[in-house]
Amino acid sequence: MHPDVKKILFSEEDIRNRCREMGREISEAYRDNQHDLLFVGILKGSIPFFAELIKHVDIDVYYDFIAASSYDGTESSGDIKIIKDLDCSVVDRDIILVEDIIDTGLTLKEIKSLLYHKGAHDVKIAALLNKQERRVNDIQADYLGFEIPNEFVIGFGLDFNQKYRNLPYVGVLKDELY
Ligand code: IMP
Repeated sequence: MHPDVKKILFSEEDIRNRCREMGREISEAYRDNQHDLLFVGILKGSIPFFAELIKHVDIDVYYDFIAASSYDGTESSGDIKIIKDLDCSVVDRDIILVEDIIDTGLTLKEIKSLLYHKGAHDVKIAALLNKQERRVNDIQADYLGFEIPNEFVIGFGLDFNQKYRNLPYVGVLKDELY
């Protein structure tokens, strides 16, 4: 275990098993779908979860990525700037937005309405982790990996100052480092 990690919450195997279940659920939900299914990963944190999840989806899908940041560099405003837009059109497509963690919900609320504004037919959310306690709006995951308490977590894409994204598990960062 990395010396900066206080405890491991979800091992690589826990995550793989949960992603297999989520992948099956998504496949069944969209198997006879009339619209293209487009997975949209939110950079950069979603990458490991995105890669694991998509392996367990056994229907035809498309995928693309988007990156956003807060205008004022804080999480509080909810006013986000798109710093990498999608390469493809979303018009008349069904979207699954893939995010590492839902915290306040501000990022997802903005991106979800942006996608509808651009003409998406339907937008659902798949998140690896959820901190319900921190939510400030009505955003909820349609497909959720795990519920977690209000602790700062790292690994499997999640960072602290851009570090620890490569850890193969989700762990809690030691308090003295946060
Ligand atoms: P929201 O807009 O507040 O829901 O922000 C979600 C984003 O905040 C995630 O994509 C993460 O980048 C970041 N975040 C929230 N909680 C954590 C955490 O515990 N560890 C690492 N990043 C986090």
